[in-house]
Amino acid sequence: MKVLITGGAGFIGSNVADGLLEKNYEVVIVDDLSNGRKENLPEEAKFYKCDIRDKKLYSIFKEEKPDIIIHNAAQLSVRISVENPLMDADINIMGGLNVINACHTYNINKIIFASSGGTVYGEQKYFPANEKHPTNPISPYGVAKLATENYLYYFYKTYGLKYISLRYANIYGPRQDPYGEAGVVAIFSNKILEGKNPTINGDGLQTRDYVYVGDVVDINLKAIESDFTGLLNVGTAKETTVVELFNILKEVSGKDDVKEIHGPPKEGEQRRSQLSYGLAKKVLGWQPRVSIEEGLRLTYHWFKNH
Ligand SMILES: NC(=O)c1ccc[n+]([C@@H]2O[C@H](COP(=O)([O-])OP(=O)(O)OC[C@H]3O[C@@H](n4cnc5c(N)ncnc54)[C@H](O)[C@@H]3O)[C@@H](O)[C@H]2O)c1
Repeated sequence: MKVLITGGAGFIGSNVADGLLEKNYEVVIVDDLSNGRKENLPEEAKFYKCDIRDKKLYSIFKEEKPDIIIHNAAQLSVRISVENPLMDADINIMGGLNVINACHTYNINKIIFASSGGTVYGEQKYFPANEKHPTNPISPYGVAKLATENYLYYFYKTYGLKYISLRYANIYGPRQDPYGEAGVVAIFSNKILEGKNPTINGDGLQTRDYVYVGDVVDINLKAIESDFTGLLNVGTAKETTVVELFNILKEVSGKDDVKEIHGPPKEGEQRRSQLSYGLAKKVLGWQPRVSIEEGLRLTYHWFKNH
């Protein structure tokens, strides 16, 4: 079976590509390398440098005839989406729609979409959020993820294009960009390795639900094999504060001299996020396996060795 991954030179996409190749899938990657890296591309995968908004995408689909699309390519900064909602919508809505329309044009069996459970729900009304939680995104990034899910539903209902939208919590692990402003685990790991003190925004008691990328690879493999269509949260149903995360990383690093430093709070930052995984367990038999302590240890040592 042939799987085409958009954004496959990025953090999540390249880990998923490795997981697929290990299971003997054929893998094609489309990425414009705006944030992804050539070093992340597995040798066995065929690579096209292409923007997902480009018409060239259709000729790639025509040539490659993939069975399944995993759509990961995106502008992934919430802050940039706030500063420039038009640019965010152009990549994340129009680009996404171009991918979906290409799937429809070339009769692709199924599309798996990297959505965001951390942003589509907005400030949560209850914890953990399940898929029935109201969606009130408070960033253009979250709005764009939700809009893309609505297009997926439309193409499914109208043309029968099957989809699974994976509503990711905060994903972390090897290859995450340590220089971006998302990805606190990568940023903190890198700072500690550089002998610097990472800055905690505000009181550091804001929580997120952290999922190790190995568990994300696993759910993508299960999603490919499943007949389910619809939305699935990808979370651990656990919350970790930034201060807790800092303390675990400090312990893992063995560097007792790293200090807990606080900066100003990030304006408009969501306070808490926690996602259930009950539906994913029920329909895919998936559940997160890697604890936060183990995942942070694996991630820190990966950064240390790279
Ligand atoms: N990392 C997380 O915690 C998280 C959480 C929720 C959702 N997601 C979603 O998962 C997906 C992957 O995120 P990631 O963390 O691996 O980010 P990433 O930046 O490492 O990967 C995204 C990839 O998309 C590529 N890309 C960007 N714009 C493109 C365009 N116009 N055309 C072609 N390629 C383009 C980038 O070069 C990059 O390789 C994204 O859709 C993101 O919104 C990530």
